[in-house]
Amino acid sequence: MRLQGKVAVITGGGSGIGRATALLFAREGARIAVVDRDEAGANETVSQIAAAGGAALSRTGDVGEPGFADGVVETVMAHFGRIDSLVTAAGFSCGGTVTTTAPEDWDAVFRANVGGTFLFAKAAIPAMQRQGFGSIVTFASQLALAGGRGNSAYIAAKGAILSLTRTMALDYAADGIRVNAVAPGAIDTPMLRRSFARHAEPEPIREASRNRHAMKRFGAADEVANAVLYLASDEASFVTGTVLPVDGGWLAA
Ligand SMILES: NC(=O)c1ccc[n+]([C@@H]2O[C@H](COP(=O)([O-])OP(=O)(O)OC[C@H]3O[C@@H](n4cnc5c(N)ncnc54)[C@H](O)[C@@H]3O)[C@@H](O)[C@H]2O)c1
Repeated sequence: MRLQGKVAVITGGGSGIGRATALLFAREGARIAVVDRDEAGANETVSQIAAAGGAALSRTGDVGEPGFADGVVETVMAHFGRIDSLVTAAGFSCGGTVTTTAPEDWDAVFRANVGGTFLFAKAAIPAMQRQGFGSIVTFASQLALAGGRGNSAYIAAKGAILSLTRTMALDYAADGIRVNAVAPGAIDTPMLRRSFARHAEPEPIREASRNRHAMKRFGAADEVANAVLYLASDEASFVTGTVLPVDGGWLAA
């Protein structure tokens, strides 16, 4: 098992890629803290881990709310005694160009995606520094590297996460902490389905998105989870400050 004896905090663990990552990490021997604002989703992930013989706890709240991450880290340290991996998958998009995005939506998207990454890293890093070991995996998007239309706040937020990932990699390398990002293509999760549903005619948009990938399909949450596992595990011991696209060839085109 690749994470035997390790402890992972996974934000956004109540759905989609975060849940797939939590289940995979647990199968690989890690104890998991599932963090999500969706209590039922987080509890369902914990139940699935427990049913498979793993150990997990859940914490419900908004990752962008100052103070929430500190409480989660305190709980995890009390229950599990260490934090080896932090995976910041919590996030959402609202859609819209600059002219159609309301300032409140811009703030909400930045608060969850960038703020959540910042606050959870800020809370977990001191524990990792004390251990002299840690791995953080953040969530960007292929759109932060390639650009994209009609999703300004989200794509800008994912770009900020990439920059934050690099600065953290530099700031904490000497502490034995590695920090990397994944950049998923379009992955078949509730978020992707919601984003197509925002359009008056979703089907042509969905088809165009699928065909934009060289592999002419959407990714599965498990396919991203496998990349997160690699970055979190000791197999990536000389990998930091980088971004790993998991995009079916989107960026190659
Ligand atoms: N699905 C895709 O096509 C795709 C592509 C590129 C990047 N991503 C990124 O992958 C990550 C996971 O996305 P997904 O597709 O699994 O989405 P999802 O909607 O299935 O899961 C995201 C989870 O995050 C939680 N969440 C959102 N905002 C939160 C907040 N403020 N506080 C606490 N929890 C919050 C949601 O409740 C949900 O359970 C996100 O960061 C997303 O931006 C997804």
